[in-house]
Amino acid sequence: MPSYQVGYFVGSLSSTSINRRLAAALIGLAPAELEFTEIPIGNLPLYSPDFDDEYPPEATALKDAIAASDAVLFVTPEYNRSIPGALKNAIDWASRPWGQNSFTHMPAAVCGASVGQIGTALAQQSLRAVLSFCNARQMTAPEAYIQFSPDVFPDDGQVTDPSTREFLADFMKEFHVHTQRVLTVLPRE
Ligand code: FNR
Repeated sequence: MPSYQVGYFVGSLSSTSINRRLAAALIGLAPAELEFTEIPIGNLPLYSPDFDDEYPPEATALKDAIAASDAVLFVTPEYNRSIPGALKNAIDWASRPWGQNSFTHMPAAVCGASVGQIGTALAQQSLRAVLSFCNARQMTAPEAYIQFSPDVFPDDGQVTDPSTREFLADFMKEFHVHTQRVLTVLPRE
């Protein structure tokens, strides 16, 4: 199968983020044909349409990084039953200026970890609504709602539980297949 560049977003700005740990695990379990580059969101100012005529360098870098990607992966916490403001702010930047939405036809997948049992389910539904409006081509199945345990996800990108490892590897394998399907029909310009 072809190789693809994946830009990934970690929705947390926490220095001890469990979602960053999950992202490392997902990357470690992904097919070799997927290459990953993090797209940082923590350095962005708050979006305002006042910037539309002249984006600041951080926001231009964000849009350039998405343009250099074949697909995007979101690994995000749930904040108050939605996504963190920092992630929404990054998506708002990427979606503008009007007519230059960076996510149009972009293959995308969402995932997230929480210490709670619902494993970011509501954040992911909220994110899916945003990405739908942004015209991204989302992988709808499998879904991945991860309840974090430090025993299962030690801080080295490993996954100690075999069934969790198999589940996450399958998620990434399906993301690769999904990316190929989308880009076959809708090649990136
Ligand atoms: C949370 N947390 C949380 N957890 C959850 O399952 N549903 C929720 O709605 C929320 N809301 C929420 C709001 C805010 C402001 C914070 C700081 C936290 C707990 C959250 O899952 C936990 O802090 C995770 O560790 C966050 O992920 P990162 O930042 O460690 O990747």
